[in-house]
Amino acid sequence: MNNGQRTQFATRLGVIATTVGSAVGLGNIWRFPYEAGVHGGGAFLLIDLFFIFIIGVPVVCAEFIIGRHTGSNIRGAFRSLAPGKAWGWVSYIGITASILILSFYSVVAGWTLEYTRRSVSGFGGITTPEGLHDQFDTYASSDIGPVIWTLVFLAANYIILVRGVQKGIEKMSNILMPMLFIILIIFVANSLMMPGAAEGLKFLFMPDFSKVTPTVVLSAMGQAFFSLSLGLGCLITYSSYFTKSTPLVRTAFITAGLDTFVAILAGIIIFPAVFTFGQEPAAGPKLVFEVLPSIFMHIGGGVFWSTLFFFLLFLASITSTISMAEISIAYFTEEFRLSRRTSTALTIGIAMFLGTLCALSFGSLNWLKVFGMTIFNFFDYFSSNILLPVGGMIISLFVGWILDRGIIRRELLGSRQIRNTFNVSIIVFCLRWLAPVCIGLVFIFGLGIF
Ligand code: PHE
Repeated sequence: MNNGQRTQFATRLGVIATTVGSAVGLGNIWRFPYEAGVHGGGAFLLIDLFFIFIIGVPVVCAEFIIGRHTGSNIRGAFRSLAPGKAWGWVSYIGITASILILSFYSVVAGWTLEYTRRSVSGFGGITTPEGLHDQFDTYASSDIGPVIWTLVFLAANYIILVRGVQKGIEKMSNILMPMLFIILIIFVANSLMMPGAAEGLKFLFMPDFSKVTPTVVLSAMGQAFFSLSLGLGCLITYSSYFTKSTPLVRTAFITAGLDTFVAILAGIIIFPAVFTFGQEPAAGPKLVFEVLPSIFMHIGGGVFWSTLFFFLLFLASITSTISMAEISIAYFTEEFRLSRRTSTALTIGIAMFLGTLCALSFGSLNWLKVFGMTIFNFFDYFSSNILLPVGGMIISLFVGWILDRGIIRRELLGSRQIRNTFNVSIIVFCLRWLAPVCIGLVFIFGLGIF
């Protein structure tokens, strides 16, 4: 299907699979458990859910409205909706955030590749939780291996991305996402039978409000935005490939629902194992890689399951990274009239450079600190907790206050103009008031501005 010279996603399934493919990734399976672990479990989950459904879903709709209405890259979208106005600056926030995230994310995706390889060999015969724990530490700090896998992973992104939207992005997502769901459910069943299951579930689901600090709230907000791929124009870019018949509100809810579901499944897989094997829930970015192998080495057919799991995690990562990269690829091709090949090479090239720095920040660059954080942690913190919510706030103010109400109504309701205007009012209220005020308050307290 062609709309002028721009492609569109071919099928309804394709729209869901690519959007969910972008949302579901390491953010759910790696980042959610580690953030929840560091920030006290249940209360973090509850605040995360608030940000996903009350703040996130309306802002997702706002990105969809802008993207589908303009059918353009993030910069072009704001230029056509608010020519000559400062709103367009949000595109540069989005492009910066996408490159920073692509860089550190690729390091973790590289770990999944190494762990796929190690799974095949049964982790070199090491089966004790302590041994597997040390094995990861040694690996992550070893420089060469992690850098090579980061570059290999980014090269794989290049190969998919040059093929374009329908053939590359959509085809991959249609096959991979359903497979991932099935395998997660198998692992959940297994984790629930572990001796530490009750304690793990209690940690994940029983909110302990004494652990809630402004920092916890800031991190939960960052996690919600990160996990929904929200606030950086990724959903503007993807929805510019939607057809007119794609139902936006329903797509937003399906994405948020499945995204949350996968994060909770990941929590149910990880925390029982953390408590069963006497590990520390607050281990940070290494948590999943240190805990999961212990689970696999504890069950029958461990080599098979482990290989399958890390390979699927790699695939889930790539459906997310291609959506990050697509933001600047669409920007470079449409704004500078570069070929798709050149734009892709440029985006991936920058990410390869920054990604190498992130990979080394666990090893020989671990002395290099930005605001007291390693490069990897700084990229993660600054993009997720600051750039994405700032971007989301600007997008929400723009659609809530500036954008013509007729456009909002047409995009959200399509041909069903008369019904559901109530829902439109709720979404507009969230965009005008609720989202900007909540995000603003979290910044004021979470960053200690007061
Ligand atoms: N949402 C993705 C995940 O959870 C990460 C992502 C962030 C993707 C920003 C695109 C843009 O893994």
